[in-house]
Amino acid sequence: METKFLDSSELPLAITLLKQGEVVALPTETVYGLAADPQNQEAVDKVFTAKKRPKGNPLILHVASFQQLQNAVLGFPDYAKCLAKAFWPGPLTLVLPKKDTVSSEITAGQKTVAVRMANHPTMLEAAAAFEQGLVAPSANPYTKISPTKPEHVFKSLEGRIAAVVDGGPCLVGIESTIVDCTGDHPWVLREGGISIEEIQSLLGDSYPVQKGPAPKTVVPGQHKKHYSPSKPLILVDSMDLAAKSLELLERKISFCGLGFTEHPKADFWGVMPGSPKEYARLLYDKLHEIDSLTCEVILVESPPYTPEWGAVRDRLKRASSAGVLPGESNGNKERCGRDGVEKRLGDDEGSLRGS
Ligand code: TXA
Ligand code: MG
Repeated sequence: METKFLDSSELPLAITLLKQGEVVALPTETVYGLAADPQNQEAVDKVFTAKKRPKGNPLILHVASFQQLQNAVLGFPDYAKCLAKAFWPGPLTLVLPKKDTVSSEITAGQKTVAVRMANHPTMLEAAAAFEQGLVAPSANPYTKISPTKPEHVFKSLEGRIAAVVDGGPCLVGIESTIVDCTGDHPWVLREGGISIEEIQSLLGDSYPVQKGPAPKTVVPGQHKKHYSPSKPLILVDSMDLAAKSLELLERKISFCGLGFTEHPKADFWGVMPGSPKEYARLLYDKLHEIDSLTCEVILVESPPYTPEWGAVRDRLKRASSAGVLPGESNGNKERCGRDGVEKRLGDDEGSLRGS
């Protein structure tokens, strides 16, 4: 299949393709999404096929209005309403009990649906053209690095999807924060563009925000190996950076990487911003860039272990989880040190995930 590269002025053609049951990559403020009409079963199937994503990992429904939200969910607690009012359109996804009209294919058989109103005019206009909005997971092959530029999508999905609409680089740069709103208080399933602190400070003490897998929620997409470059990524504390670099040099393993200060020994080294939001905006683009270079290993200086770096650290940990150095076997390489709870989760995309 020919994959069209469309300018945002060509959105009407993209909408026509979507109405014909094709899948089209659309920009959002977080990452590019692979959109399809949720009411067209074949189109939804194509999303899973194009991404090579397991069917058990549900999709996010992108709505353009509160009416579309109300049409999709049975109801929502006060705190969910408050979150939507404050952060929509924006990088926040709410998990709510679904109505029967929402197909169980997109929710992987679950009784809940993840809904988000993205802050990008292209996605909003496209979602408004469909009765239920659009489903859209991140537009990357399963477990690979998410796309923040149309070129990233084109490179990895050309020939597998009908079109990519160019909406410029994504301004948030990592996926939305996913909040389970099915209980008495909010439960953050995936950290992302809105920080836990922002959520807590909006809701106040009456709604303590929990984080991690919610007890009653199935979190299918939380793949440990997510957002992965094609070469091993090693996440290393600042104080161990010099020793790890030396070790690689002695073993004649070429490396590129990211850190907070220059690194003269690396083949390529990206100096990243010291603010978590700015870092997040650039992260996937830098990883795509480094992944296309000839170095064998990606070394990343770990960001601080403070809460505001939670979402960035999560993505880096997942990106590093499958790293096997040249000359090493693929034994137990769970560098990201997932704890027992995370091990019980399924994966992918991270659902809270990564996909
Ligand atoms: O920023 C984002 O959220 C991007 C853009 C395109 O909107 N989308 C995105 O979708 O990251 P995706 O599919 O790559 O990740 C969404 C995660 C998946 O891991 C999925 O398992 C989880 O959300 N999810 C979807 N529906 C769910 C549900 N009902 N309950 C719990 N998790 C759910
Ligand atoms: Mg994803």
